Amino acid sequence: MVGGTRGLGRELVTQGLRRGHDVVAYGRSAATTTAADAAPEQERFRARVLDLTDPAAVDAADLDGLRGPGPLYLFWVAGAFLRRPLALTAPQEIDHLTALLWLGPVRLLRRLLADPWTSAPHRPLHLVTVASSSSWRAREEQSLYCGLKAAQAAFTRGLAPELLAADPSHRVTLVHPGAMATAGFHDDLDLTPAELAAFMDPADVAAEIWRLVDRPAPTDGPDQRFLEAQLLRGETDPATGRAAPRLVPGPQAPEPPTLPEALPLPEALPLPEPARTS
Ligand SMILES: NC(=O)c1ccc[n+]([C@@H]2O[C@H](COP(=O)([O-])OP(=O)(O)OC[C@H]3O[C@@H](n4cnc5c(N)ncnc54)[C@H](OP(=O)(O)O)[C@@H]3O)[C@@H](O)[C@H]2O)c1
Repeated sequence: MVGGTRGLGRELVTQGLRRGHDVVAYGRSAATTTAADAAPEQERFRARVLDLTDPAAVDAADLDGLRGPGPLYLFWVAGAFLRRPLALTAPQEIDHLTALLWLGPVRLLRRLLADPWTSAPHRPLHLVTVASSSSWRAREEQSLYCGLKAAQAAFTRGLAPELLAADPSHRVTLVHPGAMATAGFHDDLDLTPAELAAFMDPADVAAEIWRLVDRPAPTDGPDQRFLEAQLLRGETDPATGRAAPRLVPGPQAPEPPTLPEALPLPEALPLPEPARTS
């Protein structure tokens, strides 16, 4: 679980442990992360410190616990949000977000795929990419975040044939969640507590993601070795006030940008005085 220490990744960890998986969570705060549940699950859980924005740390990340037996589920979840006009974004912020959402994970994935044990027979890899509805939605002042999320999604689609050619038992799941109530993620938006509370519960989104990941192999019908789906905000649950995830299968066409009001054309200038009298 790349980004398994907080938020949605943490929920995916907890539910993965409940499903009987061994789980390794990566993140900067891994040193203080423990399995959320009881002792038997603690034994199947490891947390490893990793800063995705540090290429040397990515190259040195301990991948040993991922060697199996059984299939390897690689969840690409780590992320952070940024809302800022590009002109007001510091070069260091561009580098940081690009490294976190894009360069670091791609570098880590390349390392994993280059490792001979991933191509060993009967060692299926299931890549689960958590992108965002921001990869296709028109958002204001979020060009960097939306662009990187669109890159993550396009990269995952592009990699799927490569993975399946390497081993037909590999799987790829690409999920685009809408807004979730994860602490701190939306600080740039200055939301009221009530607005944040109305977002989806990350535990509900994690449950939907696991359900998609555990899809049965179809005996006939459409090929589901690669699956893309949206988990958007659906109806509000009157008991919790939270929006329930609404599953929309497939990719979404990118929305055109919402442009500011066009300025009125300047009125024709009056002719100079002498021209009017002559
Ligand atoms: N929240 C939403 O509304 C929403 C909607 C759509 C999509 N998403 C996407 O869902 C994913 C998870 O979001 P979230 O809401 O769960 O966010 P979150 O609560 O802020 O959690 C982010 C995770 O990423 C890890 N992370 C951050 N910086 C890192 C770094 N430099 N190196 C390694 N790990 C790092 C964090 O761990 P450490 O702090 O321990 O490093 C944490 O585990 C993101 O990719 C986000 O873009 C979120």
